[in-house]
Amino acid sequence: MQKLSERVIEIAIQRGFILPSAEIYGSPAGFYDYGPVGSAIKRKMQNLWREIFITKPGFLEIEGTTILPHEVLVASGHASNFSDPVVICKKTQKQYRADHLLQEHTGKSWEGKSAKEMDSAIKELKIKSQDGGEFSEVKTFNLMFATYLGAGTDKPAYLRPETAQCIFLDFKRIFTQNGSKLPLAIGQVGKSYRNEISPRKGLVRMREFTQMELEYFFDPSQPDMEGFEKIADKTLRFKPPAEGDTELEVEDVTLQESIERGWVANQIMATFLYWQDVYYKKMGIDSNRYHFAVLPKDALPHYSKSNVDLEVETSIGNIETAGTAYRTDFDLKNHQEHSKQDLTAFLPERKEKIIPHVIEPSLGADRPFYALLEHCFREKTPEKDWEWFAFPPSIAPYTVGIFPLMKKDGLPEIAEKIVEELRENGIECFYSQSGTIGKRYARADEIGVPYCLTIDYDSKEKGDVTLRFRNDGAQIRIAIGDLAKEIRKFVKEDRTSQ
Ligand code: GAP
Repeated sequence: MQKLSERVIEIAIQRGFILPSAEIYGSPAGFYDYGPVGSAIKRKMQNLWREIFITKPGFLEIEGTTILPHEVLVASGHASNFSDPVVICKKTQKQYRADHLLQEHTGKSWEGKSAKEMDSAIKELKIKSQDGGEFSEVKTFNLMFATYLGAGTDKPAYLRPETAQCIFLDFKRIFTQNGSKLPLAIGQVGKSYRNEISPRKGLVRMREFTQMELEYFFDPSQPDMEGFEKIADKTLRFKPPAEGDTELEVEDVTLQESIERGWVANQIMATFLYWQDVYYKKMGIDSNRYHFAVLPKDALPHYSKSNVDLEVETSIGNIETAGTAYRTDFDLKNHQEHSKQDLTAFLPERKEKIIPHVIEPSLGADRPFYALLEHCFREKTPEKDWEWFAFPPSIAPYTVGIFPLMKKDGLPEIAEKIVEELRENGIECFYSQSGTIGKRYARADEIGVPYCLTIDYDSKEKGDVTLRFRNDGAQIRIAIGDLAKEIRKFVKEDRTSQ
């Protein structure tokens, strides 16, 4: 039987969620386009991120460039540190991630181990490739895509490996333009690029992907977060840091306790974990199937003092979909040193210049998109002879399907008017007048549309329509004049059954 992950990706391609990029030229691995259905969902996921992470006083959004000069990535440490361990099969010349091979063989994470350690382990365990070939020595491979600016080769540049760097580069100007006050939060949604060695798992390991990142600049002597007292006793599912080779069980821990245990750096970081929890619940990811993994010190990225990853449990294992890092003053300090520009913030109350510290919640968009597809996927049942998606109404690609029962007798005209009115009210509609009503309901379910309206002969007489709820197929009649108000109410209540 086909694996769930493969089925979900296949269905996603068939139904216009995603498309293999450059398919007619063989689809290079690690690249996907989002189709009409998928891009609508992704846009809503990004807007929900903005709603939760950006629409607050002192929180701003930018759009930085995706190509950055070589010097930026030297200063950030990516030119020297941003690499993965790779081995090459001597028989087929195929490349493999050494840490992934070892994880498959030993069942534990090899993140943060040196190339030398991995090399000895591969030899000791006599690991061979799937084609039976021996492996070359473990080498490190820098993941950035390099390019040149202009015609010569004297201006090297990189496609950004994270959106964050643009924010550090723009910090000083934005800080000054916004009252020279800390804390200051700057976020961004955009593409990042990594030349992944084995980009095999659909949307999980891509070479071009979307990130939603926020850099929260603060005075390290004031690591408290306004409003934290209201959420301090909220619990999240935490996975404690591994003790040596021993992985520990996920447990419910309050935000306050997570700080006291030293897992979470401070209230700011804890607040961002909480916002991620709110975001994932609203997005429709099953709240029993994700947790916050506290990274052990030897697995921290080169810029981080403390890291908590959000991991979603799926049929292909736990996927890290977000990482929250305490980047300290690492980036600003390095950029100040390399650029010779003053990137300090003057604090009038202390009459002192400091380099702000940074907490960064870094959320990917593509991995949670995949997780969302898997968590919302529903198998056929006796009542529904088709696979469907149970997306929350606020994330579904369209809110309502609009179906005139017949293509004649004035029914399409009434339906078109309804579409116009709902669109004016910001409600996205999916219009269809071909096929039986049953088939049209099925098509709407297949892409997760939560409500369908059928315009029939009674609509002409009585001015009302049938509204069908996706999850239980229940139907109610609603006056045409009340549709926008009622649908908005259902969306707000997250209602998908009668
Ligand atoms: N600025 C910090 C940073 O980039 P990261 O953990 O490397 O941290 C953050 O990336 C998020 O970006 C990940 O949790 C994941 O959701 C997404 N991401 C990273 N690499 C990816 C890839 N190759 N394909 C898809 N998403 C990726």
